[in-house]
This record gives sequence, structure tokens and C-alpha cells, in this order.
Amino acid sequence: MPSSLNPDAVAMATLEPSRYLLCIAGAWQAAHAGATFAVTNPATNALLTAVPDAGATETQAAVDAAAAALPTWAATPAPARAAVLRRAAMLMLERQEHLATIMTLEQGKPLSEARGEIAYAASFLTWFAGEAERIYGMTIPASQPHKRLLVLRQPVGVCALITPWNFPSAMITRKLGPALAAGCTVVAKPAEQTPLSALELGHIFLEAGLPPGCFNLITCQNPEPFAEVIFADERVRKVSFTGSTEVGKLLMRAAATTVKRLSLELGGNAPFIVFADADLDAAVQGALASKFRNAGQTCVCANRIFVERAMYAPFAERFAAAVAALPVGNGLAPTTAIGPLIDAQARAKVERHISDALAGGATLLTGGAAMPDAGAGHFWRPTVLGAANAQMLIAREETFGPVAPLIPFDDETTVLREANATPFGLAAYAYTRDLARAWRIAEGLEYGIIGINDPIPSTAQAPFGGLKQSGLGREGGPSGIDEYLEEKYVALGIG
Ligand code: SIN
Repeated sequence: MPSSLNPDAVAMATLEPSRYLLCIAGAWQAAHAGATFAVTNPATNALLTAVPDAGATETQAAVDAAAAALPTWAATPAPARAAVLRRAAMLMLERQEHLATIMTLEQGKPLSEARGEIAYAASFLTWFAGEAERIYGMTIPASQPHKRLLVLRQPVGVCALITPWNFPSAMITRKLGPALAAGCTVVAKPAEQTPLSALELGHIFLEAGLPPGCFNLITCQNPEPFAEVIFADERVRKVSFTGSTEVGKLLMRAAATTVKRLSLELGGNAPFIVFADADLDAAVQGALASKFRNAGQTCVCANRIFVERAMYAPFAERFAAAVAALPVGNGLAPTTAIGPLIDAQARAKVERHISDALAGGATLLTGGAAMPDAGAGHFWRPTVLGAANAQMLIAREETFGPVAPLIPFDDETTVLREANATPFGLAAYAYTRDLARAWRIAEGLEYGIIGINDPIPSTAQAPFGGLKQSGLGREGGPSGIDEYLEEKYVALGIG
């Protein structure tokens, strides 16, 4: 980190603590009892600011506000709803630098990635602004001459959105964009580690002309009172969650009580397969991009890198050299490629996965240790492990950190079987120059998102979501808005 960079000074100059309150019915307010909790910088462990620690009372008020705002917003013409989304996207892009700095301060990712995330987040708003204007119904030819059959598509109703810390802006807009485009109103709860980016979005939407009550924001440290209120309230018709499979299962059980619709974007265990016929440079760069995005803290990060034996030695050598050269540090420094992990627990998991792999016979090709010289932040030296295998913890669980295990393989059939041998099915990647193989692999991989010679397939225009225990439903793409619409069938007798 350059010596001129004082992250705490950047924080003081960037953050206005008075902006970070609960947003209920368009009014910014403290928690009832004045309770707050600390938001800290994972790069320095320094306090950034405090935000309201809301409970059941504030959540109930937010649901009431969303329910009160629903009829008017649902009846607002689609082009007017779209215009609000487009204005919000424009404001985000105008403030990209400021928003990216806030994100880096609270989440730790390098500023270049944070800028990219703001653009990615805004793109969901423009995409769904377009989709708002194309919510077509249907007419169906009836079998009786005196009947007309119609299908209307209407907003689901009040939606609760629960979002994670790894993409503090984009995971909200990927849900909020289609919800508002469809005519739904929202109560959102951002992750307790990264509430500031979400609260900034609340300000932006009000400035963009979104009526009060359409987007309510609750910050809290303990999610239980929030969850109890939203799952008990009949008016909340849908819950969308991005986070762990473990929590997703709890939410599925909770949703049964009032039969709410659910969208779940859960954990992954992405295979990244490098065939011997691949372009070696492209495969090395692709594995770097996929594995080390956000220091390995994405649900779609490569988790197991399978390399065909004929390509294994050159790939391992080049990949380990490239990983060893990645600059680690405070995300605010312009040269940083790898920021800190989110907290001490995340770092402990990385450590556990590495020691289990080394005990099981893996070899350390680079990295392998925390960075005690990096101050109070949760930094980990980017790591590559050679000769890993499917039995190791690192191949069975999602590591969510900057560690890449390389697993050699001998043939297509075996690697496909191994790649699919997991309860998860979010994203998978393959590098090959053989078109027929590319098709076979894309069809054979049991995953919702497949990148062939593409390490970052995520985009607002395409469906994002998983198979098996990686979730339910799709976000983004042409089908993303369907998650927030109900189909209503009308049979019209014409005598
Ligand atoms: C995630 O990690 O859940 C999201 C990553 C992406 O949108 O590409």
C-alpha cells in the first residue's frame, strides 16, 4: 500500500454517518431504542461508522409501509416504473467513484472491482427497466366458441430481499430491479457486514423519484426478528435470498407456514476444467480471473481446478507464477489485486482447507499462509495447491477464499463424473478448443451457469442461478422478472 494512503482518512472523508439510517416509508430513522452496531473495514479492522440495529418493530413498520405503497406502485404505468429504474442507474453511474470507495471500505475488494460492481449493479436496473415495458400477457385459443381465455401477469406483492456481503450493491439491484419493474414493493435487509452500499442505494432511489414505501431498508445484526416478521406476515408474498445453502434450507422451511414464493441463490462448488487442447495462456488467465475475483469470495468462483494430465505441468507452473505475482493489500491502493477476507472466520476456513489438503498429500505451489505483516486486516497470501484430490475438504466444500487446488485428470468421462459429484450446481467452467467437446461438456455439466472459455459469464442479460442444492429460480436475463410476477388466468364467457 502506498505510504500516502491512509484508509481511515479516506473513510472519514467519504462517509457521512447521518446518511446511514433505516429507510421506512421514505423516511430515514434510527432504531426504536437507538441501538446501533459497528461497521468495520476488513482491511484495517477500524470502525467505519455505526448503523441502526433494528428488530421486529422496525421490520413490521417496513412491511406496513411496503404494503401501503403496493397498490399505487403496482398501478403505475410500466414506462413510469422503468423511468425510475433508469434514473437510479444513471445516478449510480454518476456516483460510481464514491459508491465504489464506500464498497471497498466496507467489503475490502479492490477499487477496480468495486467500480466494476457498481456498473454491474446499475446494469440490472437498466435491463429490468426494459423488461418492465415488456410484461406481456397472453390470449389462448379456447376450445369452445363462447369463451375467451386470457392470462394476465401481475406483481407478486410485497417482497423481502435478503442480500449477502460479497456483492453489496449488485446482489440488491439484481433482486430490486425486477421487483420494482414488476410493480412489487420491497423490504430489504443487507448483510450486517456491508450495509452502507445498500443504504446509499436507498438514497439514490428516493432521488430518482421512487415513491416512499416502495423500497424500505432494515439494517440489523441479528437476522432472526427480521425473519420472524417477514415469514409470519401474510402480506409478504415472496422472499429472495442470496447466501449459504444452510440458511437457504431454513428459509424454505419458514416459507412453508404461509406458502411464500422463494428465490434462493445459494452455495456453489464450481469445477474449472482445463483440457489438454485448451489455449494455455487463456486457461491460466481464465483460472486467475475466476478463482481470485473478490479474493475468491464469490459463489461462482472456481473451487476445483481440474487439469488434464498432458497439460498439468505447464499449467501448474504458469498459474502458480501468476498467482504469486498478485499484489495483496488494502483495496484502496491502485495496484491491489487481492483484498482482505471478510473476517477472521473466513480466514480460519481457508487455513483449515489448506492444512487438510496438505495432510492428505497435496503440495504447496505458492502462498499457504496468512500475512501477519498486513496489520489488523484478514489477509491471506493467494495460494495454489498441486496434486489435490476429490476426497479433500477443499474439493468437497466451498472455500470462499484465495486458494486454488489443482486436480489432475485423464479423460473426459472421468472428469465430467468428478465435476458433477457434488450436491451443488451453480457455475462450472471448461477450457477447450474442440467445439464438439465444448457442447458435450456444456450439456453434461449439472450446473445452472456454464462458462466455456469464459471465466466470468455473469451478466444482466443472462439467467443466473443454480441446480441441485445451489438454489431455486433465476435472477437476471429474460426470465428474471418472472420471479416477481404472478400469472392470472381469466376465462371470459361471451354468451
Ligand atoms: C455471487 O457470488 O453470488 C455473485 C457473483 C456474480 O454475480 O457473478
